Amino acid sequence: MKVGEREFRAVWWEGDGEGRVVMIDQRRLPHELVTVAARTVEEVAFLIMDMAVRGAPTIGATAAYGMVLGRDDPKRAANILGKARPTARDLFTAIEWMVKEPSRERAEAYVEGIVARCRMIGEHGAELLGRIAADRGRANVLTHCHAGALAAVDHGTALAPIHAYARGMGADGVRPLVWVDETRPRLQGAITAWELSAAGIDHKVVVDNAAGHLLSHGEADVVIVGADRIAANGDVANKVGTYGKAVLAKEHGVPFYVAAPSTTIDLSLPDGSHIEIEERGESEVLELRGRQLFGAGTHAFNPAFDVTPARFVTGYITESGVLQAEQLEPTFRPRDKLENDRTTGDT
Ligand code: MRU
Repeated sequence: MKVGEREFRAVWWEGDGEGRVVMIDQRRLPHELVTVAARTVEEVAFLIMDMAVRGAPTIGATAAYGMVLGRDDPKRAANILGKARPTARDLFTAIEWMVKEPSRERAEAYVEGIVARCRMIGEHGAELLGRIAADRGRANVLTHCHAGALAAVDHGTALAPIHAYARGMGADGVRPLVWVDETRPRLQGAITAWELSAAGIDHKVVVDNAAGHLLSHGEADVVIVGADRIAANGDVANKVGTYGKAVLAKEHGVPFYVAAPSTTIDLSLPDGSHIEIEERGESEVLELRGRQLFGAGTHAFNPAFDVTPARFVTGYITESGVLQAEQLEPTFRPRDKLENDRTTGDT
C-alpha cells in the first residue's frame, strides 16, 4: 500500500534476535499514521483485542508474528493469542500454521502467502469489475466495513479488485466510484475512505442506513464485502450490517460478492450457525470518542458481526477465482492447504 511516497504494510516484523511486531495503529487513523510495537505475546493479543489491527487477514498475520515472540512456549502463545478475538478465522489459521514451528521464517512465509492471495483476489475481481463496467458503463461499488490493505496486510480483500481495476483503468475508461458505509460503531469506513483517498479513487461515505436508498435507486452496480469467516456451505460472517446489505442487494437485483482468501474459509464448520459471533463492550455504542451519547440507565447490545446466508451471495472472489458456494469445499480441500502451498512453493 502506497501512502504518499512510502510503501506500507499493515504489520511487519522488525529487528533481529528477540525482535518485535510493528503494526500501523488503526485506532489512530484517519487522524495520524503512527505505528505501535509489541514485544510480548500478551501485548500482541491485547493489540488485536483492542483493534489496533483489524480485518481478518491482518489479524492472522499479526498472530503469526506473535507466535514468533512466544516461540519458547508455543502452546501457551497459541492459547493467549487464540483468546484475542473469536470470529476471524484467520487468527486460528495462523496459529495452527505456526504452532508446530514458530520461527520468523515460517511467519514471513505465512504473511507472504496472505499478500499473494490478496493480489490474486485483486486480479480476479478486477476482471469481474471490467465485465460489470462494460455491461453498465459504470462501476459503482458499495462496500461495508474495512477490507482494504490495512485489513489484509496489503492489497485488501474487497478493495483489492477496486485497486487493481483502477490501476488498469483506461481499457474501458470507466472510473470506479466506491460507496463507503461508515460502519458504526467503530467507523471502519473511515479507514476505507482514508485508503481510497491515498489511492486517488473516487468515493463517498454514506451512513449505514443509506444502503436501501442507494440500492433501490440503482446507485450501486455491485456490492463487494470482505469476510471474517466463511463456513463450508458458503455462509459468511462479516462486520455487523453485512447481512442487511446482502438482502437488500438481492431484492434490488444487484450482485453481491464476498472477497476473501482461503485462510478465512473454515471447512470444519458445516454452516454459519456454528460461527461464534464476537460481542463487544457496550461503550462502543453508547459513547463516541469518550463522550456519552445516551442517558444514564441505557444499555446496548453490540454484536460485532452477522452471518449472511450463502443464498444471498452471488460469488466468492478468492485467490483461485470467482467461485460459487458449492465450489468452496472441493477447491480448498484438503484442509491443510497451507501445508500444500508450502511444499509446492506457492506461498
Ligand atoms: O472488527 P473488525 O474491524 O476486525 O472487522 C473487520 C471486518 O469485518 C472486515 O470486513 C473483514 O475482516 C474482512 S477484511 C479483510
